[in-house]
Amino acid sequence: MSRRVERVRVGTATLPELAAHEIAEMLSTAVRERGRASLALAGGTTPRAAYERLAAETVPWASVSIYFGDERCVPPDHSDSNYRMAHEALFARLPQPPAQIERMAGESSDYDGAARAYEGVLPEALDVLVLGVGEDGHTASLFPGSSALFEATRRVLPVIGPKPPPQRLTITPPVLKAARSVVVLAAGAGKAPAVARALEGELDISSCPSQLVRDALWLMDHAAAAELSGKW
Ligand code: 6PG
Repeated sequence: MSRRVERVRVGTATLPELAAHEIAEMLSTAVRERGRASLALAGGTTPRAAYERLAAETVPWASVSIYFGDERCVPPDHSDSNYRMAHEALFARLPQPPAQIERMAGESSDYDGAARAYEGVLPEALDVLVLGVGEDGHTASLFPGSSALFEATRRVLPVIGPKPPPQRLTITPPVLKAARSVVVLAAGAGKAPAVARALEGELDISSCPSQLVRDALWLMDHAAAAELSGKW
């Protein structure tokens, strides 16, 4: 299964609108082709801006099931919760509720139990996986040097990362690989070195986890794309 591999750079103000449009198109296509769609969301400020615009797009939400690519191990109403961010930016603004919203149990103190429970609800192949990129090259909560980067069977794992809060749940490389469409969002000059390493650097997943999704639709602003060679 080949997915769309493309790199697009736009003005900073345009990025959320473009991301929302692309995600909406992918979801509508999945519903048209398979009768339903699954969407996995990332945390972070760049994805949040896209979600706020996505709420205004025309999407058959009643046929869309929503999941998360990672979650911080905090209650769902905590200010660090990715679920809370998605609720505020997207769910609360939708004209109709999605078919289902499956959040990761960030409130559980049984981190591995929560990860295993989520593996039980996560579809074999996500239709649309939205990811952000960290300045250190992380994506989801797959951070440089993590053993989770080489996980071949578990699809969700508890991890401890450097970006607070440290305790998290994250999808693993098999989930990134199986997704039918992946949209990676990057904005700001601070991301430029990580974006260049992710897309053009020598392959070293451990030091730049975002290299796991080189074969994806990368939507960037000019600042985040500034260190790319431009030969694309
Ligand atoms: C998280 C995210 C993480 C995020 C990137 C980009 O839970 O922190 O899933 O992978 O998407 O760190 O975040 P910013 O857009 O805020 O830089």
